[in-house]
This record gives sequence, structure tokens and C-alpha cells, in this order.
Amino acid sequence: MVTGVLLLALFCIGCSGIPEKPAVYIFGDSTADVGTNSFLPNSQFRANYPHYGIDFPKHIPTGRFSNGLNAADFIAKLMGLESSPPPFLSINSTSSMKKYSMIGLNFASGGSGILDLTGENVTTNALKSKKNKNVVSLGEQIKQFAAVRGTLADLMGQAAARNYLANCLFFISTGSNDIFSYYLTRSNVPEKEFMSTLGSKYERHLELLISLGARKIGIISVPPIGCCPSQRAMNESGGCLDGLNEQAVTFHSTIRIMMDRINSRHNEIKYSIGNAFNMTMDVLQGPISLFNETKAACCGTGKLNAQEMCNPKTSLCSDRTKYLFWDSFHPTSAASEVAATTLFQGGPRYVYPINFSQLAAA
Ligand SMILES: *[C@@H]1O[C@H](CO)[C@@H](O)[C@H](O)[C@H]1NC(C)=O
Ligand SMILES: *[C@@H]1O[C@H](CO)[C@@H](O)[C@H](O)[C@H]1NC(C)=O
Ligand SMILES: *[C@@H]1O[C@H](CO)[C@@H](O)[C@H](O)[C@H]1NC(C)=O
Ligand SMILES: *[C@@H]1O[C@H](CO)[C@@H](O)[C@H](O)[C@H]1NC(C)=O
Ligand SMILES: *[C@@H]1O[C@H](CO)[C@@H](O)[C@H](O)[C@H]1NC(C)=O
Ligand SMILES: *[C@@H]1O[C@H](CO)[C@@H](O)[C@H](O)[C@H]1NC(C)=O
Repeated sequence: MVTGVLLLALFCIGCSGIPEKPAVYIFGDSTADVGTNSFLPNSQFRANYPHYGIDFPKHIPTGRFSNGLNAADFIAKLMGLESSPPPFLSINSTSSMKKYSMIGLNFASGGSGILDLTGENVTTNALKSKKNKNVVSLGEQIKQFAAVRGTLADLMGQAAARNYLANCLFFISTGSNDIFSYYLTRSNVPEKEFMSTLGSKYERHLELLISLGARKIGIISVPPIGCCPSQRAMNESGGCLDGLNEQAVTFHSTIRIMMDRINSRHNEIKYSIGNAFNMTMDVLQGPISLFNETKAACCGTGKLNAQEMCNPKTSLCSDRTKYLFWDSFHPTSAASEVAATTLFQGGPRYVYPINFSQLAAA
């Protein structure tokens, strides 16, 4: 009898369930994708071939749209995790689902956006069949998180899962691909109307995430996407495309207003908005001069190395730490590290109303 009680007590120290560290859940697009799209066999947006991953241990492509680690990895490290949360789609057993639900998971998918159709190829019935999917949209990412929440509730019970999730961190980096596809399709929807639709869809996604237990939310806004090499290459002078950058600025103010509104409905949430626009602009125009090359991509061909996506046949710069851009769309690992550090400890010009370290401690 006594032994039984003792065993039970010991057992419960080991299994009591509530982990000490809050988990980190990451959502969004290629800026945060750590290999999700490698699990979509026919996705057009994959980075699981050279020269991607060239600066990874053993130089292996991991599906990250980077030469090495990306912003999600650096943020996870700054949050004190030993390793970056793995892709939700890589989870292939009940035991790993339990384990990573309490450490962190990454749902981000390259090419995806706030709108369900962003990144999908509508001509291939992509939405009907997983086989033809290009991306996992933000809406689907949140549905996947609902399964994680279910796992936590099974493990801990509803109330404890709610308390645990209140301390977990939710990071979202999305929006660029919606704006790109609005431009690319030469949509005849007026800009104002498009932005307002984007804002209200984003708000609905966040409401769902909050209803699933998110309380600490870090959002990264859209960088000056008109300045990425692929877009500069379309401008004869090599300058940034102003229209895209204007949309990025409008998007930022849209999410500032949105978060204000959400916070007024849910005063229990804590949030932080990273201003990717100002962060990048300050690198491009000073005062921050960290990179020697801020216009051309490191890996690619043609004008600004941006005529083709990076692939095994394209050229590769030798010093990746000197380049802001890795390929025609994505930052180098070095630039992603600067961004993550700025989000973690920067002032209100870059991250508002509190920075990510304050969000974690809140
Ligand atoms: C499950 O995932 C692990 C880690 O990614 C991998 O090593 C293993 O081969 C996978 N198992 C199956 C059956 O796919
Ligand atoms: C859509 O998919 C079809 C069939 O795979 C392909 O030929 C076409 O180029 C794709 N369209 C776009 C816009 O990616
Ligand atoms: C191209 O770049 C120049 C600056 O070099 C800028 O003035 C112009 O507006 C840009 N063109 C477009 C279409 O944005
Ligand atoms: C820095 O950039 C200049 C001009 O783009 C180039 O000539 C020079 O070789 C670069 N230096 C290094 C160390 O990459
Ligand atoms: C951001 O975070 C650091 C802690 O890492 C904190 O000390 C600092 O006050 C914050 N910076 C600003 C300007 O809010
Ligand atoms: C971002 O930069 C612009 C232009 O330099 C400035 O007007 C704006 O106040 C900055 N935004 C924030 C939130 O500091």
C-alpha cells in the first residue's frame, strides 16, 4: 500500500504533465518555413535542393528558403529552445505529437498567405487534393494548431491546457505573398478594398487562434518587398518598386489598428508587432550598414542574380555574410539573425508596443 502511494507520487513527478517551459508555435510563409513544403510532394515552392542549406551543417538543404538558418530558428533560439520547433507536417507518431506539442511546432509554409488562395494554383484543383497542394494557408495552419490544442487538452485536461497555453508564444510572419499575388494577377480590385479584405481575414484568423488559447502573440509585418532582387530586376533603374512598398507600409498600419481592436476585445492578450519595413529600410538606406551587398541576390543568375531562383546550376556568392539577400526573394541567414535579434531586443521603431523579449517575460 505504502509502496503504491510512493510509486504514484514518484510517477506523478515524472508525468505531471505541465512542462516548465512555454512552447513556441510559429505560423506564416517562407520567412519562417523550416521544411513544411518538403512534405507537399507537388508544391512549386520548395527549397529542398542545393544551393539552399549550403551553410547548414553538412551543407544539407532542409527546405528552408535560406543558405542556413532562418528567422524562425533564431527566434526559437532567443526564446531559449534547444532546437527549432520542427514542421507540424513532419510529426508522424502519437509520441512525437505529444512531445512537440509541449515544446513547439512550426506550421509556416513557403508561398502561403492570409488568403486561402494565395500560393495555390487554382487551375489544378489544389484545394481539393493534398497531392496537388502548393502551400498550407494560414487558415489551415491554424486548423493544424487546433489538433495540437486537442493533444494538450488530452494530456493535461482542459483547464491546465488553457493555463499552459496562456504562457506559450505564438509568432506569425505573413502577408507578403498576398500582396505579391495581388500585383501579379493585376487584380482590378481597388487597393484600398484589397487591403481591407486582407485585414479582416487576418483578424478572423487571429480570433480563431485566440479562441484556441493564444495569449502572447508576436506578429511580423511585411518588409519592403519592392526592394527584393526579383522586383528591383523589373525596374530598369534597379530601384525598388514603389507600389509594392507602399502596400507594405499600408499593411503595417492595418495590423497596428487590427491588434488595437483585438486587444480591446480581449484585454488578456499581450502582443508585439515587428516592423519589418523599417528594419529593412534602415539596413538599405542606413543608418545600419551591416551588409556590403544589399541589392543583388547571392544565389541566382542574370540581372541582380534575380532572373532565376537559386538552384544547383546558378552562381553562388562566396561570402554569404556580406549579402542582405540570399535568393531573389529571401534574406540570407546573416540578415535573418539581425532581424530576429532586433525583434527580440529592439526599441519601438522596430517592434511595438513591446519587444519579443518583453513579450516572453510578460
Ligand atoms: C518519422 O519522423 C522521424 C523524424 O523526422 C524520421 O526519422 C522517421 O523516419 C519517420 N518515420 C516514418 C515512419 O516516416
Ligand atoms: C498550374 O499547374 C499547371 C499544371 O501543373 C501548370 O502547367 C501551370 O504552369 C501552373 N500555373 C501556375 C500559375 O503556376
Ligand atoms: C524604379 O526605381 C526608381 C528609383 O531608382 C523609382 O523612382 C521608380 O519609381 C521605380 N519604378 C517603379 C515602377 O516603382
Ligand atoms: C563590397 O562591394 C563592392 C561593390 O559592390 C565590391 O566591389 C567589393 O568587392 C565588395 N567587398 C566584399 C568584401 O565583398
Ligand atoms: C527590449 O528588450 C530588452 C530586453 O531584452 C529591454 O531591456 C529593453 O528595454 C527593450 N527595449 C525597448 C526599447 O523597449
Ligand atoms: C518607420 O519609418 C518611417 C519613415 O522613416 C517613420 O515615419 C515611422 O514613424 C517609422 N515607424 C515607426 C513605428 O517608428
